[in-house]
Amino acid sequence: PAPVTDSVLELAPVLPVVVVDDPADAVPLARALVAGGLRAVEVTLRTAGALDAIRAIGAEVPEAVVGAGTVVSPETVEAAVAAGARFLVSPACTETLLASMKASGVPFLPGASTASEVLALLERGVREMKFFPAEAAGGAAYLKSLAGPLPQARFCPTGGVSPANAPAYLALPNVGCVGGSWMLPADAVAAKDWDRVERLAREASGLR
Ligand code: 3PG
Repeated sequence: PAPVTDSVLELAPVLPVVVVDDPADAVPLARALVAGGLRAVEVTLRTAGALDAIRAIGAEVPEAVVGAGTVVSPETVEAAVAAGARFLVSPACTETLLASMKASGVPFLPGASTASEVLALLERGVREMKFFPAEAAGGAAYLKSLAGPLPQARFCPTGGVSPANAPAYLALPNVGCVGGSWMLPADAVAAKDWDRVERLAREASGLR
């Protein structure tokens, strides 16, 4: 499918980060997120079923915009795009990874957590990035500090983001959206409690 946007940050204010353990969960889980108002879904390439999950969501939940997370190599970029990922997210970045993300043809968010990493991406023409691990690396106060000297960079903070701290991030001029897994608690997913996931997604989608 054609890219829905050039900007991952403009897809939605909250980007759910999904770790699919049981591939059978992928479709009902994505439907619950979309029903709750979160249409962009990042499936992390951390489990054996992740690529199947991306394919299944792409085929069966057309209202969702499914992307791949934990993209860390040219091989994972290629596998994700072949499976139908419509955007790519990485926790980090290298020259090798950036080259393959740029060549992928889909919007992407490389990861950065220091001022020098942010500047290195800006030098390469990349203005949108994932700030990871957001809370551990300094949280909203850190991103607010970066906005002074490096206002061109815009972020999706991820890692330890919660309903309690998300509003502080979303209020910053250099934050486009936040990412996180809090709307997919392990016990709810294990119990296949998709109504609870939908409720949490609805709360999350109302954060901005
Ligand atoms: C990620 O993969 O982006 C983060 O590990 C998700 O972080 P969270 O589980 O703390 O929301």
